[in-house]
Amino acid sequence: MTSDNPDARSGAAAPSAGRPGSGGRGVLARLRRGRSTPRSRGRRRLGAAVRLLAALTLAGGAYTVFAPGLQAQDTPQLSSAGQDGKALFDVSCVSCHGSNAQGIEGRGPSLIGVGSASVEFQVSSGRMPMARQEAQAERKPPVFTDEQSRQLGQYVQELGGGPQLPESTDLAKGGDVAEGGRLFRINCSSCHSFGGGGGALSSGKFAPGLYPATDRQIYAAMLTGPQNMPVFGDNQLRPEQKADIIAFIQEGLKHDKDPGGFNLGRLGPSTEGVAIFLVGIVALVFASLWIAGKS
Ligand code: HEC
Ligand code: HEC
Repeated sequence: MTSDNPDARSGAAAPSAGRPGSGGRGVLARLRRGRSTPRSRGRRRLGAAVRLLAALTLAGGAYTVFAPGLQAQDTPQLSSAGQDGKALFDVSCVSCHGSNAQGIEGRGPSLIGVGSASVEFQVSSGRMPMARQEAQAERKPPVFTDEQSRQLGQYVQELGGGPQLPESTDLAKGGDVAEGGRLFRINCSSCHSFGGGGGALSSGKFAPGLYPATDRQIYAAMLTGPQNMPVFGDNQLRPEQKADIIAFIQEGLKHDKDPGGFNLGRLGPSTEGVAIFLVGIVALVFASLWIAGKS
């Protein structure tokens, strides 16, 4: 406080009254005239307090103006498809997956981050909405139309992100059936059997037959790995390879379901095992009888 300029102390910024020597009028002049008296010092403190109060009020006001914006980030703005999806979700899915798809202990898992691909797969194949708790949600006639499954997917996508399907409905386009068959035998046949008829897994679970699946459902199953199925991300199977596999399932498998002749009920490795056991044992018994008869 060494400056003689009164503005430096009073903090007033009126340019005309602020110059030294131009005083004699207004609040500033009054302040300047009596600046050494204790009374004016008290007044200056009062002025500082008032300014502080004004600044606080302003900051508070600014906060209330911007605070709703901060809250709004918690509930993201939904697109119109997302809003339609939310309306469906609030009726059919909240009871098990919770009001913000965060999941409910003992009823349904969180859907945050599962992506629209998973929702579209589950809803369009009729697995969801699940009717009752069971080891594995089964394929059923779908409750929702394709458009509604996409809206539900869009809602969950906007909530938490996750894997998405490509736009097209013809995802086998350009796929190489022979290469798809090779990839299928390496990656899928262990569970779904060579003919795509499916097979049993442990604990009452099973890999279903692939015949009813659409292009988008096959792609989504690979991308999201439902239940015990592994996820085949784009690193494991590039999108072109997925197209090859889809082409093989749709054109190779479905058109020629039983390339080996008998399908043995298409029940997978167990029936094949039983069949080879019976045939093999009978053959061995006759062989040993034949050898015994010779000696
Ligand atoms: C009766 C309870 C119930 C209802 C209703 C229900 N779900 Fe589910 N949902 C489950 C259970 C349990 C699982 C996990 C078991 C499974 O995948 O088979 C699941 C799994 C899912 C998954 C797979 C999650 C993942 O990890 O990939 C999606 C997606 C899903 N549900 C979406 C929905 C949608 C959308 C609806 C409403 C149309 C719905 N669910 C209604 C119980 C339910
Ligand atoms: C470890 C076993 C396993 C492997 C390997 C596997 N799957 Fe699956 N798959 C499953 C199971 C289990 C389900 C049933 C999931 C459910 O019902 O939620 C399934 C479901 C599917 C479905 C859905 C069928 C329907 O009912 O709509 C398709 C399509 C599918 N798999 C394709 C594939 C393809 C393609 C591959 C290879 C790239 C593959 N799977 C590899 C176990 C497997």
